[in-house]
Amino acid sequence: MAHDEQTVADTAAESRLDHLLRSLTVREKIGQLQQVQGGGGHVPQELAHAIRDGRVGSVINEVDAATVAQLQAIAVHESRAGIPLLIGRDVIHGFATVFPIPLGMASSWNPTAVERASQIAAREAASRGVNWTFAPMLDIGRDPRWGRVAEGFGEDPWLTSVLGAAAVRGFQGNDVSAPGRVAACAKHFVGYGASESGRDYNTTNIAPRELQDVHLPPFEAAVRAGVASVMTSFSDIDGIPATANRELLQGVLRESWHFDGMVVSDWDSIRQLSVHGLTSDDRESALQAAQAGVDMEMASTTYAVHLESLLEAGAISMDQLDAMVSNVLRLKLRLGLFDRAWEAPASTDVVGCAEHLEAAREIARESIVLLTNTQHRGDYLLPLSPSALRRVALIGPLADDAYEQMGTWVFDGDPSLSRTVRQALAAALPATATLEYVRGLPTTRSLDSAEFAAAVACARDADVAIVVVGEEAILSGEAHCRADVTLPGAQEALIEAVVATGTPVVLVVMAGRPLALERVAHTVQALFYAWHPGSMAGPALVDLLFGVVSPSGRLPVTLPRTSGQIPIYYAHKHTGKPASPETIVSMHDIHPRAPQLSVGNTSFHLDVHPSPLFPFGYGLTYTWVHYDAPTVQRAEVPMHGSVELNATVSNRGAHPVTEVVQLYVRDVVGSVTRPVKELKGFQRVTLAPGERRTVHFTLPVQDLAFTNRDMQRRAETGRFHAWIAPHAATNEHVEFTVHQ
Ligand code: GLC
Repeated sequence: MAHDEQTVADTAAESRLDHLLRSLTVREKIGQLQQVQGGGGHVPQELAHAIRDGRVGSVINEVDAATVAQLQAIAVHESRAGIPLLIGRDVIHGFATVFPIPLGMASSWNPTAVERASQIAAREAASRGVNWTFAPMLDIGRDPRWGRVAEGFGEDPWLTSVLGAAAVRGFQGNDVSAPGRVAACAKHFVGYGASESGRDYNTTNIAPRELQDVHLPPFEAAVRAGVASVMTSFSDIDGIPATANRELLQGVLRESWHFDGMVVSDWDSIRQLSVHGLTSDDRESALQAAQAGVDMEMASTTYAVHLESLLEAGAISMDQLDAMVSNVLRLKLRLGLFDRAWEAPASTDVVGCAEHLEAAREIARESIVLLTNTQHRGDYLLPLSPSALRRVALIGPLADDAYEQMGTWVFDGDPSLSRTVRQALAAALPATATLEYVRGLPTTRSLDSAEFAAAVACARDADVAIVVVGEEAILSGEAHCRADVTLPGAQEALIEAVVATGTPVVLVVMAGRPLALERVAHTVQALFYAWHPGSMAGPALVDLLFGVVSPSGRLPVTLPRTSGQIPIYYAHKHTGKPASPETIVSMHDIHPRAPQLSVGNTSFHLDVHPSPLFPFGYGLTYTWVHYDAPTVQRAEVPMHGSVELNATVSNRGAHPVTEVVQLYVRDVVGSVTRPVKELKGFQRVTLAPGERRTVHFTLPVQDLAFTNRDMQRRAETGRFHAWIAPHAATNEHVEFTVHQ
């Protein structure tokens, strides 16, 4: 739409909004700020009465299309004001068709894939009457103990910003009122991923510069992408819970970023302000949340109970109330809710259709990360050649579980749509091959080794053993945190027993978080990290096993060696005493009575190497991609200019590949200390066997801005290092200098 047309449209919409607002009583205004739980497939009388009475602005968790139509008809035709409802649902990584968990989709490093998955999720949810989803989750996750690391796009602000904006585009499209689109919600604003000790809902002690440079940027990117709503976090940020944090909700979100969407609390998080000890009761909680800028209250009812008396007491003004209500009404207008007839949507049921499942398969393929692939009988074990296989052993509690492979946050996931590894292998193997399956353990948490003997016997006779382990879906997600992030149950023992047969093992890990795999990763011949791959886990993995496509996934988080290393992430500070090969000492190498100063006084643990098991950005393919040294077109760059960087990559193997070429930068000296690397760009490059390609990055100097000594977000002059690399642990860099 041309700019002036947009202006006219906005003006018309605002005058319509203003007319609506003026038509409401105070109680009806307050009613618009309340989100209540749905009846799960029917309309409870109490809910119908509340809607008729103008006390409900939104219903959450109703996904039966006919029931939604009933709710809307009551709101529009049986209430005095006739205002339609927002119908909210957590559609986090798919509706019935389930895509990989967001952390898995992040491993694709493919914004187009994330946009497509979100578009399909929106289409399926909208067909049930949902018009608002509580996604994307943009919390930076650097602590695998935290169950919700599954729901985000990983540890890096740049990658999370790019993928978060893609998710917003996918859910909302260019016109959020169009059929098959839903309003998105950037959550949880902000810093929730820094919950101390990875324990959900715990305190977050985030340094102000870290908040500005790590946790806030993905939300700013979502606002720039036009996200329709923002959800406040449960967590306490340096003593002020996000739901009452006026500085962030007004100062940053509204005044700095000019966000004009709607802010919703998280479930019951307004009432919890008194549990935090920030307020003494619900009335004070309602006041603090309203003054901070929370428009709609999810689940708790402090607004419904106290806002009118707070208004009468002058604690909040009518203007404040009108601003909150306007944000809700504006979203409803943008969704086109006032211009729809409210009969049950036509049963053009797109839910779980073949097109969606094929998309889920493609995205799952790109989300699975190959971490090891070693030599076996003179060649790499993978890809397997189906025709050469006589017997295949399939072992493990997640090899044939239609539900668990979907992962966390799948309220509407349909396990009947799932294709498991077992099903896909059986379908893909030639008739000349025998597939034998042994579960090995009843669940991923089980310590019952009764089936180990059968697993060993199955592996012993096979050409290859595919072992699928990890975490059940319930072990990650909200409130599902683990202090020890090794493989649960007796899975390590199961792997060890199978490895001991001498049959080559392909280990497949399905999990909702980075696991600490130091004890098993290098005992097997190949290792896939599959996250929870969703409905099409089986076909996606088999496509990779047999080389239908080469793996292209790259880690969006660092994989630790042990739980004790956490937090461990690539964009760490250098410190004044960094560890080096010369200074690292293993506890096992220290002789008795060793004097205090005999151990290298630098930053490492005595009982684990300071490096990660696998670094951020890492992933193997079925070919060998060589990176020439990066070059910079001009070594001196002005502050208002851009840095032009190149690197030639070449596919020196026999398989085509999609390579994720990554650009990292280090600000060597700053007015405050800076991370040793920061991702500042990436490109997915497809190379045929033998093909060479010069990959070019144009990096505006302003992308190097950070929160400086004066708490100003600025780029600074000085020396910089740059890497164009396959992951974050590479060393060959080029230098450039920024000058005024
Ligand atoms: C939950 C989650 C939030 C979700 C909301 C509605 O507690 O924190 O992410 O969107 O409630 O289910």
